[in-house]
Amino acid sequence: RIAGPSALVLFGVTGDLARKKLLPAIYDLMNRGLLPPSFALVGFGRREWSDEDFVAQVRDAVENHSRTPFREDVWNQLTSGIRFVQGAFDDPEAFGRLRAVLDQLDEDRGTKGNHAFYLSIPPNAFEQVCQQLADNDLATHEQTSGWRRVVIEKPFGHDLDSARELNAIVERVFPADSVFRIDHYLGKETVQNILALRFANQMFEPLWNANYVDHVQITMAEDIGIGSRAGYYDGVGAARDVIQNHLLQLLALTAMEEPISFGADHLRSEKEKVLAAVRLPEDLEEASALGQYAGGLQGGEEVKSFLEEQDIPQDSLTETYAAIKLDINTRRWSGVPFYLRAGKRLGRRVTEIAVVFKSSPNLLFRHRSHEDSDQNAIVIRIQPDEGVTIRLASKVPGTQRELRAVNMDFGYGSSFTESSPEAYERLILDVLLGEPPLFPRHEEVELSWKILDPFEEHWRDHGVRPETYVPGSWGPESAHRLLARDGRAWRRP
Ligand code: BG6
Repeated sequence: RIAGPSALVLFGVTGDLARKKLLPAIYDLMNRGLLPPSFALVGFGRREWSDEDFVAQVRDAVENHSRTPFREDVWNQLTSGIRFVQGAFDDPEAFGRLRAVLDQLDEDRGTKGNHAFYLSIPPNAFEQVCQQLADNDLATHEQTSGWRRVVIEKPFGHDLDSARELNAIVERVFPADSVFRIDHYLGKETVQNILALRFANQMFEPLWNANYVDHVQITMAEDIGIGSRAGYYDGVGAARDVIQNHLLQLLALTAMEEPISFGADHLRSEKEKVLAAVRLPEDLEEASALGQYAGGLQGGEEVKSFLEEQDIPQDSLTETYAAIKLDINTRRWSGVPFYLRAGKRLGRRVTEIAVVFKSSPNLLFRHRSHEDSDQNAIVIRIQPDEGVTIRLASKVPGTQRELRAVNMDFGYGSSFTESSPEAYERLILDVLLGEPPLFPRHEEVELSWKILDPFEEHWRDHGVRPETYVPGSWGPESAHRLLARDGRAWRRP
């Protein structure tokens, strides 16, 4: 579907996200013919820029980061609708100017009063911006015929209380159904495929439960460090940065019941049910592990330790690796642990969900070696090598009755000629179309904090120090002990 006439107002135009993801995604959508000719992009920021200066910034972002080829005609169409409004978030006059620019676009370009406000800014600026939008009659559409939507990015607070406060601030101005919360993992093609894999294939569903599944491992490993994001990352850490949102969303999609439709509320209610059924292990110390990367050689390159990164205090206790164990108290999952881990500067960049099955008796066969696990697994490879692997036991050719674990692979690259849209393309399009299923409701955000808060409190109250780990490794020793205690081991992706 193609978006209708609309203007997207972007706050935070100079940020990394805008440059690397949002601006290129907008161009790619235009290039794929998914935005109407009347589409307008309005940047709002403090820089003393003219419209032309902003166009130059957009061009730079597009040339460096867009996924589709550069086409002059598409670019000209896009730039004819690009405007920049200079001002600070606390400057009422600037918002008056924004109002005037939007009115003008409605009139000249035909954006019809349909305005999406993308707040790619620190959450402590939300209140000011929302209030200014409200004061200028930009937030609701009582007086006009168009729609108004607001897009907010994580972090949605740093715990349950702050998330509630933040939500109250936004929903005081924008009605709940016009708030689009972005968790960009939900925009990924492979994440959307989890439900197709589970519910469109008759062979998996009968096994997808505690009778057959031994445990589930969800891994989000990155090989990069924190780069220049110290200001955001320090004091936040891996658990708040990605477990509270991306990994718990992956858990919800893996464990939820089949929704009765893809309607926004049906899908989101099922995810919420699973999150509400999560039970924390009694001993949070044993059920978690924290790490912080040391300096050293990674892939032949000398890398800094976390504590040596620019603007990180010498005594920072922020974790760059976190692993937790959770249980889900439902008939389907009771007794099946879900292990979640996320970290920076690990062996390679990989996100995957591994559903590991119980061992079969194998009375007639034996395994060649101890490492040759006798457990089947279905591994959903979210990225970068997108696909699904099924791990099977196979008889080793020869006269012995020996087994070895082998893989059966489906890869997006070899099975599809269609390319996957970038997550932000899909999500921005859905905002403009007014399609909410891929955007978590506030309830999901709250439930996720309710899961993470007790861990964070435990780590803080018990002064848990992250254990250092070697860059390029698979995390701290304590993470390995976490699974070893249960007689299990992390997979080597
Ligand atoms: C973001 C986190 O949400 O996701 C970053 O804040 C992380 O720390 C990023 O690097 C990873 O996204 P992706 O799509 O590359 O897996």
